[in-house]
Formats: sequence, C-alpha cells, structure tokens
Amino acid sequence: MSEEIWNKVDDYLDKLIVDQDHALLSALKDSEEADLPKINVSPPLGKMLHILARSISAKRILEMGTLGAYSTIWLARSLPEDGELISLEINQKHAEVSRRNLERADLSKRVKIILGPAIESLSTLHKNGSKPFDFIFIDADKPNYPGYFDWAIKLSHPGTMIVVDNVIRKGSIIDPGNMDPNVRGVNEMLSNMRAYKNIISTAIQTVGIKGHDGFALVYVTGSS
Ligand code: SAH
Ligand code: DHB
Ligand code: MG
Repeated sequence: MSEEIWNKVDDYLDKLIVDQDHALLSALKDSEEADLPKINVSPPLGKMLHILARSISAKRILEMGTLGAYSTIWLARSLPEDGELISLEINQKHAEVSRRNLERADLSKRVKIILGPAIESLSTLHKNGSKPFDFIFIDADKPNYPGYFDWAIKLSHPGTMIVVDNVIRKGSIIDPGNMDPNVRGVNEMLSNMRAYKNIISTAIQTVGIKGHDGFALVYVTGSS
C-alpha cells in the first residue's frame, strides 16, 4: 500500500462525508497563503475531534498548538453558545492568522488564544484557579508532551477526554535507540500514562494525507 492511495482515500472521504464548509476551507487556504506549515489535522480527524467533544457535551475545551485554528474551528463548533475554548500558541504570526480564521467562522467569542510557551500558559491557568476542562487536545511541540500531559491531568476532572496527536510518527516510536527529541517526548508521555491510576488510555495508528501517524485517546475516570 502506498501513500498515494492513502491521500486518495482521505480526499474521497473528505468529499463524501466530511463536507467542509467555507470557513474551514478558507482557514486552510489562508494558512497556506501565510506560509504556515501544512501540519493541521486531516479533515476526517478534525471532524472526529468535533464528534468526540460533542458526544461528551464538552463546555470547556483546552487545545495546545493552534497553528491556523483549523482543529480549533472543528472543536469550537462542538461547543454550546456559552462554551469556551482556550488554545495555546507560541508563534505570534500563527495566532494572528488564527484570529482572522476564527473571526470568519464566527467563533471569536467562544475562543481565546493565549500567546506564549504552552508550559508557562498552563502553569498560569492552574495558578489562577482555572476550572477543569472537559476535552483537551494536545498538539503543540512534541518534546514537551510529557509536561503537557501532566498539566492536562491537573486541569481535568473525572469524565474529561484527552486526545494527543502525532504519537506514532511513522512507527519510529518502537525503536528504543531513536534519539529524535520528538520521538522521545512522545514515548516518555506514553510510558508515563501507565503510572496514572485514574485514566484509561489507548492509541490508534492512522494513514492518510499526513502519512503514517496516529493519536492517543485518554479518558479520566477519577480524581488524581
Ligand atoms: N492543532 C493544529 C496544529 C498545531 S501544529 C491543527 O491541527 O490545526 C503545532 C503548533 O504548536 C504550531 O503552531 C506551533 O507554533 C505551536 N507550538 C510549538 N511549540 C510550542 C510551545 N512551546 N508552546 C505553544 N505552542 C507551540
Ligand atoms: C508536526 C506537528 C504536528 O502537530 C503534526 O500533526 C505533524 C507534524 C511537526 O512539527 O512536524
Ligand atoms: Mg498534530
């Protein structure tokens, strides 16, 4: 099986059942025109995030890694009128492109982008007594995944769902000698999950327009 067929199937599903509207398509187009890296979640995965958040009736969503707000739009659209999504982004240009894309999608009222290194923003949220989040999407820099996951648990409640992107990395995670800090970050986070007694976790590998990768899915069952 080749990457060519993975791409074709993602495009086929995109047209057949994902059905992106103008705001989503424009978010991708404007991100490309602003030279942002094309590393947003695929359309089918974006819609999966939407369905997951919606199925638990999430009212508060936390995202690490905004980029051009493509995943943000999918997630924020699952929220009720009075819901809130906080997205953490280090890059000012990415945040600016995102704000325009969110405005076009009429989501500016429900979404707050916090500019800065996510670890610092998470620590500030916690220090300021942030209410826990119902759904958390981890998708910023991979070497910091272990820290992001620890903060995600601190900012969760029993019933919170956590999705972590890019945890398979073309299968490189199975090589213990792989010194790529991205791979090491992902592996450290995955092995730390065993130590938490209040979560249920799994990971799913995927193929598609982003190659061979995958996501982890975690459900918080009790207090830490
Ligand atoms: N969730 C987006 C993709 C995010 S790409 C989508 O699917 O549409 C990863 C993003 O994380 C990039 O925009 C990058 O600038 C940001 N990032 C990288 N390091 C970061 C850090 N230390 N803190 C916050 N954001 C960071
Ligand atoms: C990269 C980051 C992502 O979040 C992703 O989904 C794919 C690639 C990257 O930093 O290369
Ligand atoms: Mg990603």
